[in-house]
Amino acid sequence: MALRKLIAGNWKMNGTRASLAEVAAIEAAATAAGHVDVALCPPFTLIDAMMQAADTVVIGGQDCHHAVKGAHTGCVSAAMLADLGASHVIVGHSERRTDNGETDDLVRAKAEATIAAGLIAIVCVGETEAERDAGRAGVVVGDQLDGSLPPAATARQLVVAYEPVWAIGTGRTPSCDDVAEMHGMIRAKLLAILGEEGVGVRILYGGSVKPDNAAELLAIADVDGALVGGCSLTAAQFVPIIEAAA
Ligand code: G3H
Repeated sequence: MALRKLIAGNWKMNGTRASLAEVAAIEAAATAAGHVDVALCPPFTLIDAMMQAADTVVIGGQDCHHAVKGAHTGCVSAAMLADLGASHVIVGHSERRTDNGETDDLVRAKAEATIAAGLIAIVCVGETEAERDAGRAGVVVGDQLDGSLPPAATARQLVVAYEPVWAIGTGRTPSCDDVAEMHGMIRAKLLAILGEEGVGVRILYGGSVKPDNAAELLAIADVDGALVGGCSLTAAQFVPIIEAAA
């Protein structure tokens, strides 16, 4: 089943108020594209201002705490993001799994908190290069899905992003056959975990998505969109990726 594509930009720890100048052209492209959902996930510091600059483009957070509120210095809850008008939260990005030691259990708790706040959880999974070289990519990603996905989630509440760690920010991507094989496995896993709801969960590919490879990647079966890092920072690079999905 062809699902409506989602192109999500993850600005990571990049951007100041001056960067909001990029939003107008991204907003125009999202409006013109029509049958594509476009999301931007800036640092927390820019969410409110970006919300004012966007309309068709929806805004998300890059992380949240699993609690609603409390004594957690420096943290932001999904409920706080909902209060700002955000619609999505990225959880379990490999950079957080590595930099902050986030486990599958914690990622699942964050996804559940996101859904409880009325937002859509974008749950990230992906293997390292050593795991792929050892022929373990499918097992590793399957285990991450088993541990990280909220089993009661509906298709409207959940997005999965497959991001091979070795492809993030490196300019390297898996072959189309490898992407197709992994996304097919993820779809089967979603059906096993969520039942019929798994049919409608969008599966994004992430890792060095660029204007010149987006069309090819987005044409692969069960690639329902992209999670874009570096090339989402400027309209010049992000707009062609949105157009490739249209
Ligand atoms: O969240 C986005 C991904 O980590 C991909 O980043 O497009 O810079 O490789 P990248």
